[in-house]
Amino acid sequence: MKRTHHCNELRPTQIGQTVTLDGWVHSRRDLGGLLFIDVRDREGRTQTVFDPSTLSAEVFAQAAALRSECVIRVTGTVRQRPAGTNNPRIATGEIEVAVQALEVLNLAAVLPFQIDDPEAAARVAEDTRLQYRYLDLRRPEMAQHLRLRSKVAGATRHFLDEQGFLEVETPLLFKSTPEGAREFLVPNRREPGTFYALPQSPQQFKQILMVAGVERYYQLARCFRDEDQRADRQLEFTQIDLEMSFIEREDIYALVEGLLQRVWKSALDMEVPTPFKRISFEEALNRYGSDKPDTRFGLELADFTETFRGSAFKVFSAAITNGGVVKALNAKGLAGATQGQIETMTEYAKSLGAKGLAFIKVENGEWKSPIVKFFNATEKAALTAQLGIQEGDLILFAADQWLNACEILGKIRLYCAEILKAQGKLTIDPKRFDFLWVVEFPLLGFDREQNRWYSSHHPFTAPVAEDVPLLHTDPKKVRGQHYDIVVNGIELGGGSIRIHQPKVQKTIFEDLLQIPPDETQLRFGYLLEAFQYGAPPHGGIALGFDRLCAILCGTSSIRDVIAFPKTAKGVCLTTQSPGPVSARQLRELHLEVKGKKPAAAALPAT
Ligand code: AMO
Ligand code: AMP
Repeated sequence: MKRTHHCNELRPTQIGQTVTLDGWVHSRRDLGGLLFIDVRDREGRTQTVFDPSTLSAEVFAQAAALRSECVIRVTGTVRQRPAGTNNPRIATGEIEVAVQALEVLNLAAVLPFQIDDPEAAARVAEDTRLQYRYLDLRRPEMAQHLRLRSKVAGATRHFLDEQGFLEVETPLLFKSTPEGAREFLVPNRREPGTFYALPQSPQQFKQILMVAGVERYYQLARCFRDEDQRADRQLEFTQIDLEMSFIEREDIYALVEGLLQRVWKSALDMEVPTPFKRISFEEALNRYGSDKPDTRFGLELADFTETFRGSAFKVFSAAITNGGVVKALNAKGLAGATQGQIETMTEYAKSLGAKGLAFIKVENGEWKSPIVKFFNATEKAALTAQLGIQEGDLILFAADQWLNACEILGKIRLYCAEILKAQGKLTIDPKRFDFLWVVEFPLLGFDREQNRWYSSHHPFTAPVAEDVPLLHTDPKKVRGQHYDIVVNGIELGGGSIRIHQPKVQKTIFEDLLQIPPDETQLRFGYLLEAFQYGAPPHGGIALGFDRLCAILCGTSSIRDVIAFPKTAKGVCLTTQSPGPVSARQLRELHLEVKGKKPAAAALPAT
């Protein structure tokens, strides 16, 4: 009696057939002496019926004792469900299997949480779900995420194969290189005091592969970054990483648009219109206060720097005298915000570095605000005209340096959108996807604390050709050939055209990033040397694969699309890693744990 069908397969056309199903006891109901067991496997579920009048007392008793999630094999006859008992919510809802034989393949202990009811599962603490991830993943919703992930990986590979890309694996035991995030180090037993580092991305290998003549490389690459974790960040994550030779930015845009079109078609059966919109970094900040703008709703920022230059309201005029700007946002319909809500918003703005969050409530035909008394008629008229101020509006201001003012109001914009959504005043179609290329990023940013330049993307990004002369005169103005792909306010991916001339690369490292020459040699010598042997012009991009799957699944946390994710503290609760190691392992690695007594001491020195 081998399995003949999966649990989502039987239809009225199979009525009368004898079938065998394997799976888990999803749910059980006793009704009028009959026992109904829904058997579930990866594909779905089927109702089976145990009838004491046709089964031996022993088999019936065995079935009656089955707990949820026991593993069983049932053989029986497919029959039409009695009139009025069809279940239109499941694909097998018109039939049932009248059981003739039962084999219990394995028992299940009492479950730590119920998995047959999505609402009950939603109330289970995430830590419990992660500890028993194997149970959590049995839930159809989670199983669907894994399936979709696999499908998207397949569609990606197919598409890139068709486009002539080679899948090449690059090492995970790499070396320490400063690419932004903190790295994971792996001690080298063979040479005390030396370490591998796990790659933050395959960036350097993929560039070397271009020197190697691969021309089109891709990889579903595992990356490691020891950074604070959030809903959209994990310590280890996956990128769709690719690189191409002899191309320009437009080629990457077209390729990625084609890839995402294919992915949306295969995962959601949706047609995605191309080309995607593009917005410059500067415009994105000015209008949305973010370099990853969510363009599915308005609430755009407006600039009032000229309006308030020399204003009697010193908070604004002084910020402008200091080289800053005044930006404002009309949170339409939020005038009803309570004092408490405005205070919470102000505290949030302050936590983002704001000095304050001036506001005006427009209620009963009046502008209510402690600051309005300082505004003259021209200033008021400018606000009314530019922000389209109406009854019920809440106007919020940030006066600060340009980037700060934009970013603070950008976050407040999202916060207001959440409040409006909760109040039912803003609805966003869950099937709406706003794809956007963000382009013309500055090549460099300036770190005031450390008094030096840093790369906005990474140090391998090429400057826009016409801006190269500015590298030595006005680095701030140099635009990078960098692009980000953004979907609904989420940074899905980023990439750039790279520097392929060793001289330019050296200038960036040494003159602008001020890495001393010997350190440049130590860290990047191999790359600079490779570039001397005929490096083709090249560029590429990496898309966050986990983020891509989360967007497609409509979930806000990438943990929901990763089989075994880590918690905010970096722990895998399913396997309790990281964990202690033995004293002997430490000795072999020439390591000694100082400070806190190593948990390792608890392990026998095997
Ligand atoms: P970047 O650092 O922008 O670029 O990363 C590309 C994309 O990877 C995803 N991502 C993450 N996903 C989950 N958890 C994380 N901790 C995490 N960090 C990044 C994001 C991001 O947009 N080598 C370059 C690419 C290139 O230039 O070709 C790179 O890694 O979706
Ligand atoms: P103050 O004069 O400091 O009491 O501020 C008056 C109002 O302006 C308060 O609502 C502050 O929150 C707000 N405010 C102060 N500094 C700024 C700033 N830099 N940008 C926007 N609003 C500010």
